[in-house]
Amino acid sequence: MSVRTEMPIAPAETVPSLGMVMAEAQHRPPDPARDRAGGEVLLSVENVSLSFGGVRAISDVSFDIRKGEIRAIIGPNGAGKTSMLNVINGFYFPQQGAITFKGEKRREMRPYFAATSGISRTFQNVALFKGMSTLDNMMAGRTLKMRRGLFWQALRVGPAMAEEIRHREVVERLIDFLEIQHIRKVPVGKLPYGLQKRVELGRALAMEPELLLLDEPMAGMNLEEKEDMSRFVLTINQSLGTTIALIEHDMGVVMDLSDRVVVLEYGRKIADGTPDEVKSNPKVIDAYLGVSH
Ligand SMILES: Nc1ncnc2c1ncn2[C@@H]1O[C@H](COP(=O)(O)OP(=O)(O)OP(=O)(O)O)[C@@H](O)[C@H]1O
Ligand SMILES: [Mg+2]
Repeated sequence: MSVRTEMPIAPAETVPSLGMVMAEAQHRPPDPARDRAGGEVLLSVENVSLSFGGVRAISDVSFDIRKGEIRAIIGPNGAGKTSMLNVINGFYFPQQGAITFKGEKRREMRPYFAATSGISRTFQNVALFKGMSTLDNMMAGRTLKMRRGLFWQALRVGPAMAEEIRHREVVERLIDFLEIQHIRKVPVGKLPYGLQKRVELGRALAMEPELLLLDEPMAGMNLEEKEDMSRFVLTINQSLGTTIALIEHDMGVVMDLSDRVVVLEYGRKIADGTPDEVKSNPKVIDAYLGVSH
């Protein structure tokens, strides 16, 4: 059996509905009464440890991510945040501990399958095809949802053609949603950094993830770009209902956006709670100031 036929495929009729929700979401004001406590557990990290040779990146860390919440992962440089995202989406398999996603304990898988599991991500350093346009980069994000094999796609006839039109419709709506119509044909390598980050967000969203992982989505942005990105993150969470795990160094952004925050330092969890709880935790203050409280 080929790799492609083993992938979970959304029913055809569900594809356009994302677009409709997005179109509507653009005009819907944020809901201040949303349940910030979150709901059922979507993903749990249990006693996870991860080492690279002699370097221990993560030591016995446990926390969960609840359906519908924005969960921030913070900590000083080298704390193990990116490594944790790589464990969550299956890029790395921990030497100890377990990840349970939607009630199912994760087995070791190749990175390719990580992208088909309902979890998608953006990277700390933008990872796009720099010579390709915004549109093509986002279509590439959509490829994993295509049900026709490479043979049909290459021929661009028959069922593959109809499918491509449908996927393109979803991507075009995403482009409208992210307000990047003006750059849809521009090679992403020519775009300013802030817009590249937005295209990368679009590519991750094109996979219609249940859980979206964002690794420092606002790094290197100016204030206006940060405000735009914050607005998109909130709208994606509130209107599309996507659960989000977010690594971010800007504490203002973390406090504004997240429902709960887990704090790592030297690979260990030192705090876990609401933004207010975490902010006043002496261990967190020490970690950030680099001194004993
Ligand atoms: N592929 C790797 N090989 C070897 N060591 C690694 C690898 N990835 C991460 N590390 C090490 O693991 C530790 C945690 O790194 P990680 O990138 O997860 O931290 P981080 O919290 O994301 O830091 P930053 O805020 O700087 O992005 C560091 O000591 C890092 O050098
Ligand atoms: Mg990192």
